Amino acid sequence: MSSTSDYQSICVMGLGYIGLPTASLLATKGFKVTGVDVSQKVVDTINRGEIHIVEPDLDILVKSAVHSGNLSASLEPVEADVFIIAVPTPFKDGGPDHISGKKPDLSYIEAATKKIAPFVKPGNLVILESTSPVGTTDEVVATILKSEGHKVGEEVYVAHCPERVLPGRILIELVENDRVVGGINEASTKVTVNFYERFVRGAVLATTAKTAEMVKLTENSSRDVQIAFANELSMICETESIDTWEVIELANRHPRVNILQPGPGVGGHCIAVDPWFIVDRSPDCSNLIRTARQVNDAKPNWVVERVKKCAGKFKEPKIACLGLAFKADVDDLRESPAFDIVKQLEAGNVGELLICEPNIREHSDFPLVAVNVAVKRADIVVLLVDHKEFCGLKAIDLSEKVVVDTRGVLK
Ligand SMILES: NC(=O)c1ccc[n+]([C@@H]2O[C@H](COP(=O)([O-])OP(=O)(O)OC[C@H]3O[C@@H](n4cnc5c(N)ncnc54)[C@H](O)[C@@H]3O)[C@@H](O)[C@H]2O)c1
Repeated sequence: MSSTSDYQSICVMGLGYIGLPTASLLATKGFKVTGVDVSQKVVDTINRGEIHIVEPDLDILVKSAVHSGNLSASLEPVEADVFIIAVPTPFKDGGPDHISGKKPDLSYIEAATKKIAPFVKPGNLVILESTSPVGTTDEVVATILKSEGHKVGEEVYVAHCPERVLPGRILIELVENDRVVGGINEASTKVTVNFYERFVRGAVLATTAKTAEMVKLTENSSRDVQIAFANELSMICETESIDTWEVIELANRHPRVNILQPGPGVGGHCIAVDPWFIVDRSPDCSNLIRTARQVNDAKPNWVVERVKKCAGKFKEPKIACLGLAFKADVDDLRESPAFDIVKQLEAGNVGELLICEPNIREHSDFPLVAVNVAVKRADIVVLLVDHKEFCGLKAIDLSEKVVVDTRGVLK
């Protein structure tokens, strides 16, 4: 096996939005990479040099990585110098007595660690990249490896290196972003920093595993709290019949104020999930973080109530719902507040829904309508996502319509 400064073979556990770009990037940098996934379909797709997720330029990278012979996918791990774990970390039901009802689900990390344990050898490095509650690298990954007989920290190095890439820019940010690396001991940190410095152009910043875990959760909780402030403000301004966006624009002219923009809620599988990992572990000192989550989770219901109120003024209301995705200019509907709002309007029989989502061709639950058709026919226009296609609507005369603009782009 190669020395720790010359690791050559990598086994990546989980080939999703994080694992596949990472595996293919490393393969094109000359590492011999085996990507492992539990899905046969994912494995077969990648081995054909194709991709199963949408991300700019990933198709080209995967094709070239597979054709070079440096990337192959498999259902089973293989021996390697470095193991990277990039499996999901969702939450699960914590039961009625739990502080938030939401507990981190670490079963994917446990399963992936148990799976690699028989293939790990002295000198190897195991990196947890999945976003994880504080303590997971030590208490789950290192503990499982120890229980399988490995001399963790002495012969097998273990570290956390959280991902902070933005979907749509993953291939750029994987290389350009600064990375935070925290080992379970100093030797693990040192070896992991050396490894990332071989392919990351951003700074590789050394710390402990627990701090690295907390840094990632802090980044997303900070965004969540700031968005909650803007969302709460939008509800307060509505009761006062004041334009929230004007308030924010004017307040932001203060040299030390920077309020974010409100919206229909917070979606996606990071910001809406990760703060709960802090609340679960530190329930007594996380009131603000928990409340921010609750404010953001409550915003879709508030939007639904506003639309219902508007619809009550019409005999047979026609409602244009603009956007289903969880944020602007993406096709990702996972955990989307816009989708939730449309579902609630449908379930409540609030009116005839004219649903537009320019980033997807069709949806199994709803027929999709072109934006100009929907707006023309609608009595009420509900803007849910600030897709570029909707921002141009300002030019169209909406004076005859009732407008519920959750993103402030139709002003
Ligand atoms: N997607 C993002 O933008 C992003 C950004 C930063 C951090 N993260 C974090 O990275 C981690 C992975 O996220 P993702 O978006 O890549 O998830 P994903 O759902 O896109 O991919 C995860 C993959 O892991 C596979 N998998 C599940 N269990 C497995 C196992 N035991 N062994 C091997 N493969 C297994 C799944 O089949 C899936 O293909 C999560 O912790 C997430 O919070 C994601």
